[in-house]
Amino acid sequence: MPRAVRFDRYGDIDVLNVVDVPRPVPGSGQVLVRVKAASINPGEASIRKGVFAQRWPSTFPSGQGSDLAGVIDELGEGVTGLHVGDEVFGFTNRRASHAELVVVDADDLTSKPPAVSWEVAGSLFVAGTTAYAAVRAVSLRPGDTVVVSGAAGGVGCLAVQLARNAGATVVGLSSEKHHDWLTRHGATPLAYGEGAGDRIRATSRGRVDAFIDAFGGGYVKLALDLGVQPDRIDTIIDFEAAKRYGVKSDGNAQAASSRVVAELAELVAQGRLDVPIAKVYPLSDVRAAYRDLEERHTLGKIVLRPETA
Ligand SMILES: NC(=O)c1ccc[n+]([C@@H]2O[C@H](COP(=O)([O-])OP(=O)(O)OC[C@H]3O[C@@H](n4cnc5c(N)ncnc54)[C@H](OP(=O)(O)O)[C@@H]3O)[C@@H](O)[C@H]2O)c1
Repeated sequence: MPRAVRFDRYGDIDVLNVVDVPRPVPGSGQVLVRVKAASINPGEASIRKGVFAQRWPSTFPSGQGSDLAGVIDELGEGVTGLHVGDEVFGFTNRRASHAELVVVDADDLTSKPPAVSWEVAGSLFVAGTTAYAAVRAVSLRPGDTVVVSGAAGGVGCLAVQLARNAGATVVGLSSEKHHDWLTRHGATPLAYGEGAGDRIRATSRGRVDAFIDAFGGGYVKLALDLGVQPDRIDTIIDFEAAKRYGVKSDGNAQAASSRVVAELAELVAQGRLDVPIAKVYPLSDVRAAYRDLEERHTLGKIVLRPETA
């Protein structure tokens, strides 16, 4: 039987199990994908802990995960343009990608370019579309200076590069161990914490045009204090601050499509977008993977690979 991640109640990492499940059956307009790689995201940890229990409740037993890349194993009725054996990537909105076999709506998949690895393709949906939406939201023009908080994380490292591709000067906030990566990707790295505002003012000579907050915890207020206009601030996590200060909060929902992930994969294939893969865990080590992610010091993405991949 195929294996899949399941949890039966909200809780800490130890509620996650990898269990045998019946082989999923694709319905009309759907395909069955044999997963090669599926990345993990902080939002999944929040869902598992019950943080969104009121807004987006889980039904138990619950699966987990949206990002995925793999090979088509079976076609449902009425699917055209895709074939068994095709290499694809994309997403599922059914909390299901952390598994060996996943049913996916055919419209939510796109072809995996050969130059893009399984791990990278399986990492592009949540982080990639969120970075894409956040960069678009702050309307960057060549010559603008944009600050990115959480610049080394899954979303931040992509936002930094998309902002550079838009012609902006990018200041990235991260710990020192990721400064070298940021420098190599065209950003000016600065340490977060005490005095970050002064360091940003000194580096930008007092002119910050836009701010992308990929970490939360006070960066929206800092952006306003730096003189950034509210419509050029986007936070992907501090929704309370977005409401209070009238700044933007575009994220995954504003760019979640197979068209956007295809565009991002094309950038990867052209060498214009680098997706650092911090670590690959076998699916059976899903708990260790989340333990790592929940430390909140990842550079890029953490990926699960089913043992059958
Ligand atoms: N709205 C949406 O659609 C959406 C979509 C995706 C994610 N999110 C949310 O956005 C956040 C980022 O997601 P992610 O996948 O990028 O997470 P992640 O990969 O876990 O981010 C980890 C990064 O956070 C950095 N960090 C830790 N403490 C920091 C601090 N005090 N100031 C600045 N950066 C700090 C770390 O940098 P160092 O290692 O250098 O310390 C690390 O690189 C999460 O809260 C997630 O839930 C929202």
